[in-house]
Amino acid sequence: MFGRRSSELTTTRPVAPQAQVAGAPQQRKPAESAPPPPSRAPEPPEPENRSQKSEEYYDVKTTVFNALIDTIDLTQLAKLDAAAAREEIRDIVSEIIQIKNVVMSIAEQEELLEDICNDVLGYGPLEPLLARDDIADIMVNGASTTFIEVGGKVQKTGVRFADNLQLMNICQRIVSHVGRRVDESSPICDARLPDGSRVNVIAPPLAIDGPALTIRKFKKDKLKLEQLVKFGSLSPEGKMILEIIGRVRCNVVVSGGTGSGKTTLLNCISGCVDNDERIITCEDSAELQLQQPHVVRLETRPANLEGEGQITMRDLVKNCLRMRPERIIVGEVRGPEAFDLLQAMNTGHDGSMGTLHANSPREAISRMESMIMMGGFALPTKTIREMITGSVDVIVQAARLRDGSRKITHITEVLGMEGDVVTLQNILVYEILGEDPKTGKLIGRHRSTGIARPKFWERAEYYGLTDKLSEALSAAEVKDRNGNPLGERNG
Ligand SMILES: Nc1ncnc2c1ncn2[C@@H]1O[C@H](COP(=O)(O)OP(=O)(O)OP(=O)(O)O)[C@@H](O)[C@H]1O
Ligand SMILES: [Mg+2]
Repeated sequence: MFGRRSSELTTTRPVAPQAQVAGAPQQRKPAESAPPPPSRAPEPPEPENRSQKSEEYYDVKTTVFNALIDTIDLTQLAKLDAAAAREEIRDIVSEIIQIKNVVMSIAEQEELLEDICNDVLGYGPLEPLLARDDIADIMVNGASTTFIEVGGKVQKTGVRFADNLQLMNICQRIVSHVGRRVDESSPICDARLPDGSRVNVIAPPLAIDGPALTIRKFKKDKLKLEQLVKFGSLSPEGKMILEIIGRVRCNVVVSGGTGSGKTTLLNCISGCVDNDERIITCEDSAELQLQQPHVVRLETRPANLEGEGQITMRDLVKNCLRMRPERIIVGEVRGPEAFDLLQAMNTGHDGSMGTLHANSPREAISRMESMIMMGGFALPTKTIREMITGSVDVIVQAARLRDGSRKITHITEVLGMEGDVVTLQNILVYEILGEDPKTGKLIGRHRSTGIARPKFWERAEYYGLTDKLSEALSAAEVKDRNGNPLGERNG
């Protein structure tokens, strides 16, 4: 057993900052304005369900926690693997409980131990939330308020941090894993947890009420198209159509609002790509999980402290073109890289894909247009529109509806131009028919718009998939009272 212990468990000595406790390499020295490492042991945080724990529990926890911090050598602890470190903490905590004569049940001891291990080794009060697989997002708005998204609904939790300093230390610990830092002088940071969850931190003074930490939880088992069908996000016919679109190398833009399921959908559609194709992905924070054997994953990089070394999405997409890609997949198009992606789509990289934030297929077109215009390309609007229509074949629209459910609301083709206007053609739409008064769940259906031969028919022909396509399209038709198929509704 290691760890310097004082026999009375009373001596105090400086404590290493939490980031070092976890053994995370500090890539750069924090700037002067960075929050100072805690000059005392970090306060033990309050567990998730505060109401169920007594004040005594917190008092005991504080006492035991402080005694532990005074006793162990944190730098030595950081060298151990998680299981050994936990074992070490367990031994010392039991000893402290004995010496201090604390009366506790076995269950309480276990809980205390878990809490303390989380504080010393992990992400403190976040640990129980990170361990749950049903949570999509964790949103921490300062030390005392944490929200989560479960089943499409946002709810408040009882999770609290001791103070903003503890929260900041945890944020720092998270981002230092990927060689970044967050403090007053560099208050915005994107990072990733070791399990792949996407993290964003924005610290004071930009975040007025304390650090805001947002985590998009990584799903170990990424959703597949079959599951989207099971959840009712997509109809079986819709699944078949998307599979064909992915397979026959249509250029696809997945459009949707925040958290509507764009990345998930992109991942699903890319699952239809053949194994022998060379795919290059460009992302701000790598989230896609492609199953194909020939994938190169690229990630952007923010500028360093001196404001240098930034690699933008544009740089990545441009570089892709020199890497002999067969398909380029851009996680999220949000700036002038739209131009490069469209060019790539236009120049022999059929089957490229990307996502963007827009609330309808029509809006997706104008978003692309404005991204290109804001990128400083001095092109007439008509030329930009022509470029878009010449490049994008299909827009798949995702949405999170007001009942929390996520749906694919449109599969829409980009047909061409009529005068100055881009013409779109919906192939499949989701219609809301009503609401279940008991559950508040929306009732709706996916239906085809009666298009028998979409523009990508020829592609489907080339891949020998026309039978499957027409089967899916006719099965998705919904007839009116007179037996006539319900008609088109252009986006
Ligand atoms: N059809 C679906 N049914 C249920 N859950 C879904 C569905 N699609 C996505 N999700 C879940 O919703 C969460 C958000 O999904 P995703 O990351 O794909 O959204 P996004 O639109 O890319 O978000 P952002 O705008 O933040 O990038 C994830 O936890 C994901 O597993
Ligand atoms: Mg996304």
